[in-house]
Amino acid sequence: MCGIVGYVGGRSALDIVIAGLKRLEYRGYDSAGVAVLSDGGLASAKKAGKLANLEKALADRPLPSGGTGIGHTRWATHGAPNDANAHPHLDNSGRVSVVHNGIIENFAELRAELTARGHRLSSETDTEVAAHLLAEEFSSCGDLAEAMRNVCRLLEGAFTLVAVHADEPDVVVGARRNSPLVVGVGNDEAFLASDVAAFIEHTREAIELGQDQVVEVRRGAVTVTDFDGRPAEVREYHVDWDASAAEKAGYDYFMLKEIAEQPKAVADTLLGRIDASGALLLDEVRIPAGVLREVEKVVIVACGTAFHAGMIAKYAIEHWTRVPCETELASEFRYRDPILDTRTLVVAISQSGETMDTLMALRHAREQGAKVLAICNTNGSTIPRESDAVLYTHAGPEIAVASTKAFLTQLVACYLVALYLGQVRGTKWGDEIRSVVRELSEIGTQVEQVLGTMEPVRELARGLADKRTVLFLGRHVGYPVALEGALKLKELAYMHAEGFAAGELKHGPIALIEEDLPVVVVVPSPRGRSVLHDKIVSNIQEIRARGARTIVVAEEGDESVVPYADHLIRVPATPTLLQPLVASVPLQVFACELATARGNEVDQPRNLAKSVTVE
Ligand code: F6R
Repeated sequence: MCGIVGYVGGRSALDIVIAGLKRLEYRGYDSAGVAVLSDGGLASAKKAGKLANLEKALADRPLPSGGTGIGHTRWATHGAPNDANAHPHLDNSGRVSVVHNGIIENFAELRAELTARGHRLSSETDTEVAAHLLAEEFSSCGDLAEAMRNVCRLLEGAFTLVAVHADEPDVVVGARRNSPLVVGVGNDEAFLASDVAAFIEHTREAIELGQDQVVEVRRGAVTVTDFDGRPAEVREYHVDWDASAAEKAGYDYFMLKEIAEQPKAVADTLLGRIDASGALLLDEVRIPAGVLREVEKVVIVACGTAFHAGMIAKYAIEHWTRVPCETELASEFRYRDPILDTRTLVVAISQSGETMDTLMALRHAREQGAKVLAICNTNGSTIPRESDAVLYTHAGPEIAVASTKAFLTQLVACYLVALYLGQVRGTKWGDEIRSVVRELSEIGTQVEQVLGTMEPVRELARGLADKRTVLFLGRHVGYPVALEGALKLKELAYMHAEGFAAGELKHGPIALIEEDLPVVVVVPSPRGRSVLHDKIVSNIQEIRARGARTIVVAEEGDESVVPYADHLIRVPATPTLLQPLVASVPLQVFACELATARGNEVDQPRNLAKSVTVE
């Protein structure tokens, strides 16, 4: 949700900022803009649409070169995605330039005050007020970092602001409240960005900024304070992936690359968490075993795909630990006054670690005394920072907007948490845990097998490109898989897609079935819970009798579904609870191929952004 880059150093700020914006475009692609300090002045350019439009404008009218600059790629909140509303925003003198991610909630009031004081604002954005306020503050204190602190104390809402001033040509200043900003520390140069991906090709040394902090970066100096100017403790860290992880590596889309990376992502997420005897080693879960033994309820909060991972986790947690578990959309959670106390364990799942709804849910939970465990893919992001403990998924950077490898690794992490709870509470014997862990360790290879058999799925998807609707059915853990399959298709192919619990069909949705309507059915293993399997086979027959074209995802060797499947997608046999790890993969491939066949932009679907930092 808006990508921000800032640079100060000895190289061309414009080149570095544009390269950084390319890596952040997944965060928003409604417009892009840059500002560079040069020869005592400030030059800027901005353009609606993707970054390529800005690059074209810059090729036609180049900016002067300079070593200090900022840039922005936008996901619009206030004001249409046009040139005027694109960032950076300047003050009336044209000497201050600001980029922003988030929402300044009191902007209307501030705007009215600025207008009354004679400022002329030319966009519909909330951001522009920050540029004018900074100019005012700078004119009285003559220091950009001080001016930023003064402005931040006036603002309400969520914001990352990054600014430059022509009177301080070797300085970039940033501020953050409830929205991400990291510092990259290079050799005689420094970077500010929404995500380390923006500067990973230049440095892997980063500094996490805390809540309500202002940072001033110069060549070779980084100063962090709180909004009142008190020095803040800085936490430096080394980024454990490199620039190649953020490249397409020969794939047409990041999504294809990320789907292909899933076996490794799953293996990496298990790495170091199981000892030689097969017992779980989750030292990073800093919540004492005694506290976990006292937990009376688990509540999982998450959004979108991460919510689907949480739905699956509920089945595993309740089955393996016998602790009641609820999974709730983070955006709904705090508004219904949930019942939480010190015996509630809240698990917040988030790839980005910045999703505002999830962040607000976990803050609410902590205020009520609950312990919060984050499952997150982004080191140093806000959600793990504000949680009591974190279990990182090691999926590596996920750049395609639609989540794939992060989802699979979230599932692995959820299974680990469920087993760990079983281990500390003694509801699972050591040999039972070892047996599930062994099965989990085989999943990477099984996902690899699935990926090796996807050509018929792609062909099927291409054949359905002109359909208007696809339905998805599942039971038990197959139900969230169905929801996830439908979500992927909606967001990528822009088709009507819905997932249903197969048992609910007869309570209404079966009326949707008509001749040749594609219905994907996720069939549980016939081993283990055979009653589940038999019920869903009946559901397949019911929809087929009404004309549906059945696309059946079933495990190898399950012959009972063959007579009722118009298309059969085989997945390796796994224990019932682990099946989502293999059954989700064909649905990702299906959605990706269907979107491609419809000519859609797979990595950057319309209206979306990767990291949703507003509520
Ligand atoms: C869908 C998708 C989104 C995210 C959701 C939560 O493919 O990626 O639904 O899962 O926005 O994002 P995180 O996990 O970053 O909190």
